[in-house]
Amino acid sequence: MKIISIVGARPNFMKIAPFIRAIQQRAKGGTAIPIEHCLVHTGQHYDSSLSDDIFQELGIPAPDYNLEVGSGSHGYQVGQTMIEFEKLLPKEKPDWVVVVGDVNATAACSIVARKAGIKVAHIEAGLRSFDWEMPEEINRVVTDRISNLLLTTDSMADANLLHEGIPATQIQRVGNIMIDTLQNECAAARRLNFHEILSASTIDTKEKSLDFLPEGFTFVTLHRPSNVDIRETLTQLIVLLQRISEKLPIVFPVHPRTQARLKEFGLWHQLANSERFILTQPLSYRALLKLNMLAKVALTDSGGIQEEALILGTPCLTLRWNTERPITLIEHGGTNRLVGNNPEKIWSNFLHTLTEPRRPTIPDLWDGHTAERIVTTILRFNDSHNIP
Ligand code: UD1
Repeated sequence: MKIISIVGARPNFMKIAPFIRAIQQRAKGGTAIPIEHCLVHTGQHYDSSLSDDIFQELGIPAPDYNLEVGSGSHGYQVGQTMIEFEKLLPKEKPDWVVVVGDVNATAACSIVARKAGIKVAHIEAGLRSFDWEMPEEINRVVTDRISNLLLTTDSMADANLLHEGIPATQIQRVGNIMIDTLQNECAAARRLNFHEILSASTIDTKEKSLDFLPEGFTFVTLHRPSNVDIRETLTQLIVLLQRISEKLPIVFPVHPRTQARLKEFGLWHQLANSERFILTQPLSYRALLKLNMLAKVALTDSGGIQEEALILGTPCLTLRWNTERPITLIEHGGTNRLVGNNPEKIWSNFLHTLTEPRRPTIPDLWDGHTAERIVTTILRFNDSHNIP
């Protein structure tokens, strides 16, 4: 049986690493049906800090193909991925294409595979923000609608798929594969030195004291177009972050999109000059995990950080009005609050979280063994004639 798995952007890498490891382990143990694996990187993320460095850190083998799609509009990225991916199918002839998450590569490659008559498995199926303004929501819905096998993280994802009319036989709850990576990397992250992380990755032009660990800090990540691409919204958020930084210093790994907008809107220098802000390059997976372990509060618009904060128990304020990961929310027993980009709401929730203890929470099947369950499930479905 041959599997092609697809990655395109940073959040895919933590999901594919355990899957590849599980295939390798299965091969060592000997399976009735040998599994041949081929990794395709669409090249959406190409900076070493967003791509190669994380490949190395997580032990992901070099991709067999890099489609080198690069930056561009959504139409360009999706279209170019489809054109390039389609070319390699006649040569590779996979039985399955495995896609993860919700980035442009996920939707583009699943459409191409399904049209070529190849079975598609989607890892992290069924997540819904119900926000059609998010390109990721479109990617999720399209991918799930055409996938043969939908591998889900929790019962809420199952319910979303059933509600959309997906047959129950195609839905398999396997847990959260990102937590396999989190568990695998936790010990190494713990050994990292906080000061060394900051001094090695700072992009501040000014010397700043890094001795604020005893006081605690807030850790911030921002990259969603709805938060960073509109001048007024980003300016309001930065004013708010400055207010927060007076209470607790801020460590802010800056995504390339965000760095470009901060510079374009004339906001960069005030952050770079503030003693209470440490600006860093995008961090390695382990370094970010270490920050999440130590931070008093995480402020983020990322999907994955909401889940990592849940497992680590870090109070998390999500700078969005919705989340496709409701299992992380306070009302479902988690550590996460949706605060949108309203400064007053963010501020009052920030003050509240300062008094909250860490409360690590581990949902059912988020146990570090999801990748093994996925490999078993694909092997079982490969034998079955019941899937469409
Ligand atoms: C993508 C994903 C998003 C994910 C995020 C994590 C989609 C629709 N979006 O958004 O779901 O949460 O990755 O980072 O697939 N850039 C670089 N170097 C790079 C890559 C990008 O400088 O290696 C810059 C480019 O100027 C580009 C901008 O960052 O225009 C945005 O990159 P893009 O890949 O389009 O989307 P992300 O915002 O990163």
